[in-house]
Amino acid sequence: MCHVSVIPRPISVQASAGAYPITAATVVRAPAALLAEAQFLAAALRPATGFDLPLAALETGAGGIRLNLDPAAAVHADGHVLEATPEALEIRAATPAGVFYGIQTLLQLLPPAIFRAAETAGPWIVPAVRIADQPRFGWRGMHLDCARHFMPKEFIKKFLDLLALHKMNVFHWHLTEDQGWRIEIKSLPKLTEVSAWREKTVVGHHDNRPRRFDDTRHGGFYTQDDVREIVAYAARRHITVVPEIEMPGHSQAVLAAYPELGCTGGPYHVRTVWAISEDVFCAGNDASLTFLKAVLKDVLELFPSPFIHIGGDECLKTRWEKCPKCQARIKAEGLKDTHELQSWFIRQIGEFLTQHGRRLIGWDEILEGGLPPGATVMSWRGTEGGIKAIQAGHDTVFAPNSHTYFDHSQATSRETEPLTIGGFLPLEKVYGYEPVPETLPSSLAGHVLGAQGQLWTEYMETPKAVEYMAFPRLTALAEAVWSPAAGKDYADFLRRLPEHLRRLDVLDVNYRP
Ligand code: ACM
Ligand code: ZN
Repeated sequence: MCHVSVIPRPISVQASAGAYPITAATVVRAPAALLAEAQFLAAALRPATGFDLPLAALETGAGGIRLNLDPAAAVHADGHVLEATPEALEIRAATPAGVFYGIQTLLQLLPPAIFRAAETAGPWIVPAVRIADQPRFGWRGMHLDCARHFMPKEFIKKFLDLLALHKMNVFHWHLTEDQGWRIEIKSLPKLTEVSAWREKTVVGHHDNRPRRFDDTRHGGFYTQDDVREIVAYAARRHITVVPEIEMPGHSQAVLAAYPELGCTGGPYHVRTVWAISEDVFCAGNDASLTFLKAVLKDVLELFPSPFIHIGGDECLKTRWEKCPKCQARIKAEGLKDTHELQSWFIRQIGEFLTQHGRRLIGWDEILEGGLPPGATVMSWRGTEGGIKAIQAGHDTVFAPNSHTYFDHSQATSRETEPLTIGGFLPLEKVYGYEPVPETLPSSLAGHVLGAQGQLWTEYMETPKAVEYMAFPRLTALAEAVWSPAAGKDYADFLRRLPEHLRRLDVLDVNYRP
């Protein structure tokens, strides 16, 4: 009987007698179309084993680790079959992505020490097993706010490695906020000279009074070369990077550099406290749309993702109510109110993205005043918005704050837990998360693209703090978006978790014990 602790839980695991040993003489055989996967596997095995496994074409011999494309291997593009016998270890899939996920399973069949960066004593034995697996959803995502606190490029890469380990395939990169702008736009240099830096940051919880501030300038940004490097790194791991450029709200940092784009004209500063700003893009000023299209022009060049996230959440309408330009726009366009003005604004951007062959995705507030044609909704205020969008024929990604907001506390004790924004989201609740809402008619379930977790970083100043909030909850979420709902079993998850935590130990992940 073999002990298999693969996370997320595979659909089918059949153990048999014996094992497949990986040695310095093991050949990795693959067709040319899988060269990148073969190289990825050899590179993943190299640090801990010290083996420099030779690569060869599939026909060069029997045995070895065999990667193979086979349209019949799995229905889903990310599905695969892994068969280990004492003679050979074969991974078959219909696509390179499917083979890649088979490789992730293979790594988890080896001892956790396989993830070590330094050479470690073996043996490197894979139990004889046949695993057939495929994901439940095509969108298995994780969001990371790099605006409230800037996260270094090397950490983004580590985070992407961890997503790949969990067979997750969307990195939702939150790049702009009231408190900081994080992406270089060549034609708008003040975004990185001014908007990327705040003078100080509120200390403690936002609700505390009196307010105290540190006296530290905080900021940073990703150059376009950094972005290209990260997008390529993600692509090697079959992860799509979905960039988020917030509009029309959450944009005070932009106004600090370009005050003419706000309703009042400023002056503005890059926000130093949390919560949301009432200073947003003026929707009556054509220059706001010209500016955002200039930003998106660079974004479209940098990110091949079919989806571009435009935020759309929490846009306060107080300025628009009083702004002559916004009111003139409402009149000229025959709109009812400022909610329809927001909808009009988002629709302009939606048309721009459609013209460029991309799909707009936004938080569920983009429903207010009417959804732009073809828009996809990310449902965060519970599931209602997503259900409404689906009933109107739109696709939805579920990201409800009830089950997927990893900025909420993992325990109720103030003594053992770091300061958080609030809320309580224990591991078991994440594990129990069901992405298809109960009230959604099953005929519409195809509009559920998948689900994702959120990491808002107001109270996470460092990568280690992010890791603490992300793990092990991300591990539970990975199973909710990959594994079938039937047979979900928290006790079985907890049985597999300790070995997975050993992997995270080896990978130097600061998970909550
Ligand atoms: C959000 O949490 N404002 C999407
Ligand atoms: Zn205005």
